[in-house]
Amino acid sequence: MKAAVAVENQNRPQIDDRPLPEPAAGEVAIDLKAAALNHRDLWILSGNYPGLKYPVVLGSDGAGVIGAVGEGVSEEWIGQEVIIYPAAHWGEREVAQGPDFEILGLPEDGTFVERICLPLRRTAPKPDHLDWAQAAALPLAGLTAFRALFRRANLLAGEKLLVTGIGGGVAQFGLQFGLAAGAEVWVTSSNPAKIEAAVAAGAAGGVNYRDDDWPAQLKQATGGGVDVALDGAAGPGFAGLIEAARPGARIVNYGGTGGALPQMSPRPLFWNQLSLLGSTMGSSTDFADLQGFVRQHQLVPVVDRTFPLDQVAAALDHMDGGAQTGKIVLMP
Ligand SMILES: NC(=O)c1ccc[n+]([C@@H]2O[C@H](COP(=O)([O-])OP(=O)(O)OC[C@H]3O[C@@H](n4cnc5c(N)ncnc54)[C@H](OP(=O)(O)O)[C@@H]3O)[C@@H](O)[C@H]2O)c1
Repeated sequence: MKAAVAVENQNRPQIDDRPLPEPAAGEVAIDLKAAALNHRDLWILSGNYPGLKYPVVLGSDGAGVIGAVGEGVSEEWIGQEVIIYPAAHWGEREVAQGPDFEILGLPEDGTFVERICLPLRRTAPKPDHLDWAQAAALPLAGLTAFRALFRRANLLAGEKLLVTGIGGGVAQFGLQFGLAAGAEVWVTSSNPAKIEAAVAAGAAGGVNYRDDDWPAQLKQATGGGVDVALDGAAGPGFAGLIEAARPGARIVNYGGTGGALPQMSPRPLFWNQLSLLGSTMGSSTDFADLQGFVRQHQLVPVVDRTFPLDQVAAALDHMDGGAQTGKIVLMP
């Protein structure tokens, strides 16, 4: 079978031919129908990820059909359509993952393959209303947005939510989930067309984070600032989030695409009673609740483009260029 493998000192994976794996006891073999990219894949390829190990099959997200079962797993599972929980070993505490927490696709071989074997408990039924690409797009990014908004920031109906960098995969879920929860959603983007598309999807408005005065623009447009900000960029723009926050707001960060946090005065933080929160993916409880939320609101992940598995390099180039809106998906 084909596998997209990250190797040392190459910024794009190579396509290897590997034997079809057999499920061990307690495992199922999933014949993948789709596998989604995450920004993490680019970090790994550029050598900017903790715990690097080569060679490794990339990919954290996947959806497919159970094609074989290992010892101790009922044959009734064969033919079931599933999505994959992209993490392992969350640990005992819901408040944060434990030290053994891992994400599929480093160090464990990931989903950019035709078949993967995983413990049955790391699968969940594919939501019926989603096609294969949409189903594969959901797990990692959907889980990240879900936990950040509802477990960490406790977003409430009627609140004003800012989602930064709306072209991003997690950000698109932030927009959808915020709207479904009854929030008034605002966005930032470097691309006016992406802001227009977000407004067409239900956002109240947006500003361009490349404008120096974007926090002031946002504060004015929202009539005093936002209650919650969902941010995957950090970087110098983080100071703007604090400026655009209404007193009492919660700012939840899940990523650092824009680089290190800026130096800033602590005064706006303490004076305005702000909460700064961090969030990473989610527990298996969060994953179950995410699926319930997506089914209840019949939400459909935004798929930007699909590529055949052997065009993984082109798919990664597309993500690196930042022109996407939503998820980029490989079809094995
Ligand atoms: N902690 C976790 O569990 C977790 C989970 C998933 C992702 N992440 C991290 O979160 C980040 C986003 O991940 P993703 O998969 O959603 O990435 P992605 O789909 O590649 O997102 C790319 C988007 O980021 C936006 N962006 C880039 N620079 C920005 C800046 N300076 N300010 C605001 N927005 C900016 C751009 O939005 P516009 O095109 O609209 O300008 C771009 O389209 C990555 O760093 C990723 O590693 C962390």
